[in-house]
Amino acid sequence: MAELILALDLPDKNEAMRLLDKVNGELTWCKVGMEMFTHYGPQLLAELASRNLKIFLDLKFYDIPHTVAQAVAQARTLCDLLTVHCQGGRRMLEACVAARTDPSRKPLLFGVTVLTSFAYGEIPGINEQPEDFARSLASLADTCGLDGVVCSAREVKQIKHEHPTLSCLCPGIRPEWAAAGDQRRVATPAQAVAWGADYLVVGRPILEALDPRDALLRILDEIDHPL
Ligand code: C5P
Repeated sequence: MAELILALDLPDKNEAMRLLDKVNGELTWCKVGMEMFTHYGPQLLAELASRNLKIFLDLKFYDIPHTVAQAVAQARTLCDLLTVHCQGGRRMLEACVAARTDPSRKPLLFGVTVLTSFAYGEIPGINEQPEDFARSLASLADTCGLDGVVCSAREVKQIKHEHPTLSCLCPGIRPEWAAAGDQRRVATPAQAVAWGADYLVVGRPILEALDPRDALLRILDEIDHPL
């Protein structure tokens, strides 16, 4: 069964906590990205963990292998799932896997392939179609020993076909009733599940809804009853 991850892309921690109170009991995973983490740091993650939430720390590390490996080592005890950029290359990805010494594979390490906000022609220096580039980055992630990739739901079927053990985490999720915003390679929750996504990351369709709890429940219902 696919899991829903609520992206806490909010400027204010109290706002995030109020939202979590509203969806209490319905949610297993939340995502902390660069906005919240830059402001509140590890203390926020401890507060979320005390609410029994699993934490996806989406910092998308991308630097030289040594620096990123040290950052992964620091993040080991802070979260359940962590992202690094596949474009950091083989040596960087292998160094990340080596830095996660925990035999229980915590945190799960996911490689960002191609941001879901990129359409064809927008990735600097890349003339390939985003889905083809995402596939080759997924292949790299797999051979480097990552647990999964971040990709558009539109790419999941092909990636799973080529790499059956790789998990797929998909942002760019837009129910029919939500606006796409800056996202380009989007899919509905039902499509993402039907195509094999393991995790669905949703931010604005819930955060900006008049009734966030209702929006979340509608998305959970779509996950439970895909196409
Ligand atoms: O608001 P929305 O549902 O578009 O939020 C999507 C979330 O997923 C954002 O926090 C964004 O940073 C993240 N994300 C993404 N594309 C990726 C990786 C992460 O949109 N490739």
